[in-house]
Amino acid sequence: MRVVLVGYMASGKSSVGKLLARELGFHFLDLDEYIEQQQKKSIKTIFSEKGEIFFRKLEHEMLSEVLDKYQDLVLSTGGGTPCYGNNMETILQKSDHSIYLQLSIPALVERIKGEKENRPLVKNIKNEDLPEFIGKHLFERSQYYAEAKHVLECDGKDLETVVSEVKQFLF
Ligand code: S3P
Repeated sequence: MRVVLVGYMASGKSSVGKLLARELGFHFLDLDEYIEQQQKKSIKTIFSEKGEIFFRKLEHEMLSEVLDKYQDLVLSTGGGTPCYGNNMETILQKSDHSIYLQLSIPALVERIKGEKENRPLVKNIKNEDLPEFIGKHLFERSQYYAEAKHVLECDGKDLETVVSEVKQFLF
């Protein structure tokens, strides 16, 4: 069974994916980490040296590659992954379950405020401008996230609760 987690930056895709994979005994892959290992560079450096378009091409290629790698897999994607090329179509075709970890704008602002440094797209946004930036960005992206097979509302839920609710979608 292949499970793919999608959602905005800081929605918990990596933490949820890691714990979910451990509990299910599945392989875990984080698409950003996979790209970093392949390129031997951080996402931040890839963005600054080669730009976003280069990153999106890599992301597109690696997405298909990782989804063919394991039978039992939990894959955490990057916040932009479903929104470029035909990536959401690939996710739907190659996975058994895709889950959108949905958080409200205020919850995302709270989380992203302290974690901007390694996120090139928000790094230079002032904290006071984050609600407007995230609001607009999420509005553009939601249509892609919403194509996921399942949508899980995550506001106010701790990691264990989210993981156990994801599991209910799977079995
Ligand atoms: C991005 C999100 C990041 C990473 C890259 C671009 C985006 O992943 O892929 O910085 O476009 O939202 P996280 O969602 O893990 O922060």
